[in-house]
Amino acid sequence: MPPFSGAGVVGPQHRYARADYESSNRARAGPSTISQYVRTLYFDRCLRRTRPPIRYSGRAGSGRHHEPPEATKPRSRRLIVARIERATLADVPDVKRVLSETWTATYGSFLSAEAIQQVTSVWHAPDRLARQAGNPQVFLGVARLDGPSIVGMVTVRHRDTGTVMVDRLYVLPIHQRQGVGDALLRAGLAAFPGSRRARLDVEEQNRIGRTFWQKQGSSEVGRRVERVAGAVLEMVEMEKAPV
Ligand SMILES: CC(C)(COP(=O)(O)OP(=O)(O)OC[C@H]1O[C@@H](n2cnc3c(N)ncnc32)[C@H](O)[C@@H]1OP(=O)(O)O)[C@@H](O)C(=O)NCCC(=O)NCCS
Repeated sequence: MPPFSGAGVVGPQHRYARADYESSNRARAGPSTISQYVRTLYFDRCLRRTRPPIRYSGRAGSGRHHEPPEATKPRSRRLIVARIERATLADVPDVKRVLSETWTATYGSFLSAEAIQQVTSVWHAPDRLARQAGNPQVFLGVARLDGPSIVGMVTVRHRDTGTVMVDRLYVLPIHQRQGVGDALLRAGLAAFPGSRRARLDVEEQNRIGRTFWQKQGSSEVGRRVERVAGAVLEMVEMEKAPV
């Protein structure tokens, strides 16, 4: 069985009732050809969250957010459909927008606005993103819900035999904690079916990112200090296996 084609655990106490991964290109699954339609049925749990909730009165992503405050509203099951596809050149401006917005929300507490601007203008330059979108050794994937806008992105690249590197995984803050990050990661890893492990770096200060990777079964394999636009960051090197 391919590593990410199976059904999730079924049961009311579990977050996913089922996850289907359909890909007409699966048989040719190389990073240059893969185009996946990932459906994640997400059942919201009765958990109180520390960040402002997202309230949908229609289907997820419909943009109608006018329900009563979360505290007065019983939690209901919520269906999130994330479509994961390989990015095209036309997606580059939207990918850049997602990166800018998510970077500010994620790193704004420990990187200055100038540092973020400096880094994103280089690392997320449109020509660099365009090259990655066209590189068969890279899977630059984008997530959409029921509209044309991109709500998340992932970059996975072949590093060496058996190893892929997850260079980026970003979901817009308003769409986080709905299974989109998980769906993006699965699609990114499925693009490299021969890989045995995935490596990634996450900043020590990035609590949500570290929680996500721990939930993914990743473990710490090292640490290093990195200078980013004048700021000193402690990077946690993690490995996820088996892929
Ligand atoms: C990390 C990130 C990609 C996760 O995407 P997501 O769509 O929110 O993740 P999922 O909904 O698939 O969440 C999976 C798990 O991650 C953890 N998680 C996600 N958001 C969390 C939050 N706000 N607080 C605590 N844990 C969180 C949880 O363990 C969650 O599982 P659970 O909901 O069953 O408890 C997203 O939070 C993000 O873009 N963060 C900013 C960028 C970043 O840190 N990227 C990773 C480092 S490269």
